[in-house]
Amino acid sequence: MKKVEIALLGLGNVGKGVWNILKENKDEIRKRSGYDIEIAKILVRDKNKNRGIEIPEELITTDYNEIINDESIKIVVEVMGGIDPARDYILQAMNNKKHVVTANKMLLATYGDELGEAADNKGVMLYYEASVAGGIPIIQTINESLTANKIEQVYGILNGTTNYILSNMDNVGMDFSDALKEAQEKGYAEADPTSDIESFDAAYKLAIIASLAFGTKVKIDDVYREGITKITATDIKYAKEFGYVIKLLGIVKEIEGKLELRVHPTFVSRKHPLANVNDAFNAIFIKGNAVGELMLYGRGAGELPTGSAVVADIISIVRKGTDIEDYTTVKNNLWHKEIKSFDE
Ligand code: NDP
Ligand code: HSE
Repeated sequence: MKKVEIALLGLGNVGKGVWNILKENKDEIRKRSGYDIEIAKILVRDKNKNRGIEIPEELITTDYNEIINDESIKIVVEVMGGIDPARDYILQAMNNKKHVVTANKMLLATYGDELGEAADNKGVMLYYEASVAGGIPIIQTINESLTANKIEQVYGILNGTTNYILSNMDNVGMDFSDALKEAQEKGYAEADPTSDIESFDAAYKLAIIASLAFGTKVKIDDVYREGITKITATDIKYAKEFGYVIKLLGIVKEIEGKLELRVHPTFVSRKHPLANVNDAFNAIFIKGNAVGELMLYGRGAGELPTGSAVVADIISIVRKGTDIEDYTTVKNNLWHKEIKSFDE
């Protein structure tokens, strides 16, 4: 069997999910991609950390040069998070003709243009399905399945941690900080959970899907953002009395040629399907002018659901062909490059 070697940057929640899926589903992946996909190196900060997972010692490194200078590594999978050094590592990987898969919404929402352009210039592929809504195939849906539509609006629950907190406060009267602690223990929260509870994470995701759905580059500062830290048990109790549930929603719609973009806690009728989205699940409604309205629902965070999206991206690249000569005509990644100003 032919093999493709890849490298992981990061072995936290998502990295471990990727490792486990590639191991557990090896046979299916081999059949579907035609290759054995092997992790040849894993970059971490601390080599001695106990990760509760069996991985050959020689795969783990703290030196990125071992990855970047290894020509047999064809795909770099960035699951470390943050801007620096992730951005630089991805650009270096592309410069060295390596394809990139990333789950990093913060980086994509801030430097997605630069990365998409670098990928095109270097003739490599950039995939990022896991960056929005964990295991839900939202990027593929917007870019491929709904590509015949003019998208009119997208809205929904885009953050698992805050939905875990709000739904557990509502359903079982859990305390905010206990619910956040549980979400962290389950691997849903960001390394710095301020990003979740102050809605930066949901704003990054909204900026990414709005850019793709509306064919423009949405700047993160264009997204109105409000967190959930001021929501109290009393707010939730009164919402319930009036037939509502409080959900953190991300909303984008086009109004007279301009995009309205916002992320904030919202009263949702208990009769609306979003009211029944609990724990770390996400749900996204998309309205297209041909398809009408559709809803995607699933696990928005966690090791395996997110790993599922990352590994699917790896397989997509492998199927297209990791040797540069094979795919340059495919004209790679899914980032929209058509820019439309808000005032147009
Ligand atoms: P974790 O904090 O659990 O893991 C991060 C990993 O990256 C760790 O193994 C860490 O090494 C390594 N790392 C971080 N900085 C460096 C560095 N400078 N050099 C080398 N290694 C480094 O994060 P997650 O796995 O939860 O998230 C990873 C990415 O995936 C983020 O961008 C996140 O936003 C995104 N994401 C996360 C989801 C989730 O459910 N958790 C869902 C969707 C996307 P060490 O272990 O040695 O400290
Ligand atoms: N921290 C994020 C969340 C991870 O809770 O939704 C998934 O992107």
